[in-house]
Amino acid sequence: MDFDTPTDRIGTGSTKWDMMEPAFGIPAADGLPMWVADKDFEAPDFLQAAVRGLVDRADYGYFCDFDTFHDAIEWWMDTRHGWRIDTDWLFTTHGLGNGIAMAIQTFSAPGDHVAIFTPVYHEFAAKIGRTGRVATELPLAIKDGVYHLDFDAYAARMTGKEKILLISSPHNPAGRVWTRDELRQMAAFCERHDLLLISDEVHGDLVYQGHEFIPTHAATPETEPRLVVMSAASKTFSIAGARTGYIMIPDPVLRERFGAFYRALDISPNLLGVTLTRAAYSPEGAAWVDQLMPYLQTNRDIFCAGVDALPGLKAMPMQSTYLAWVDFSGTGMDRAEIHDRLKTSARIAATPGHTLGTGGETFMRFNLGTQKARVEEALDRLSQAFANLQ
Ligand SMILES: Cc1ncc(COP(=O)(O)O)c(C=O)c1O
Repeated sequence: MDFDTPTDRIGTGSTKWDMMEPAFGIPAADGLPMWVADKDFEAPDFLQAAVRGLVDRADYGYFCDFDTFHDAIEWWMDTRHGWRIDTDWLFTTHGLGNGIAMAIQTFSAPGDHVAIFTPVYHEFAAKIGRTGRVATELPLAIKDGVYHLDFDAYAARMTGKEKILLISSPHNPAGRVWTRDELRQMAAFCERHDLLLISDEVHGDLVYQGHEFIPTHAATPETEPRLVVMSAASKTFSIAGARTGYIMIPDPVLRERFGAFYRALDISPNLLGVTLTRAAYSPEGAAWVDQLMPYLQTNRDIFCAGVDALPGLKAMPMQSTYLAWVDFSGTGMDRAEIHDRLKTSARIAATPGHTLGTGGETFMRFNLGTQKARVEEALDRLSQAFANLQ
């Protein structure tokens, strides 16, 4: 598998490349897009073959073959994560974002609060707000350089209006992989505060050596009566354009509640999303991920070491995924100056940390899901943009 050949996505309608100028004022011609969580690698052969099969059949009519799709998800969870699911638990969503929004709306009412560990994927708070709910921010603590949970502090921040705890496991940004013990502590917190636990596990396939992703249900089976799990092949295989994710609800009562909302919206899976996800969750897909991870790990090692060598910048050690998290507080610069140097000097579009909530203010998020040469280029540009600090 060749991850090194640069892909040219400019002018293809790629959000990452073609929205960089409108969103950041940085033209794609000389910019480096390191923002939205989308990788720059070409789709592997087994995905191409699956789509070609679809095209060759020349039949895009209504379809009913959901069993092989569900079986593929079941197989993936079992073989990749040692988690036995039942295909009856599954609902297909229009991307995972849609799954989060539907779960919030099913299991809470407007005005209710949803607790989140910040800084976290900015869309958590956005969806909470857009659905008329209120985010209760539970800021992560930094211990030994990485994020930790601080339940004593969280108890004091709870307002009594929370109905849901929404987690990213592993955590976006920085890729903290929650341990079995931490997941059990989260479940106990939900029990104490009578919260539903929504576990977004979309980054679970992308874990680096030395760490193990444990699905929340596997870590805390006793939390089943208050647990909703969701995932997608979108981040792992860069197929987010197919807008397909899935929700897994082991508890029959929660499942019935969610099912009623889901049926009322009249959602059903789309052919392309099913075709791509089924092809991804296969032995070929597993072998591809096994080659992808060492590549991403090299990107991570090069980037984090390079950033740490620059005075005033510090990368949080990454346990999973490709979303590096860099603290600029040591530069002594204000946010406007950091953004200006990234834009006008480095020409890098990175996600501003303050948009991910409390605790993200001094950070920037850099997407390393690209060719190694581009990661090295980003480091060169960063060292020049912040050169006067050397
Ligand atoms: C934690 C998390 N959940 C959900 C999503 C969005 O998934 P989708 O593109 O399938 O809506 C992302 C995308 O970055 C994410 O990081």
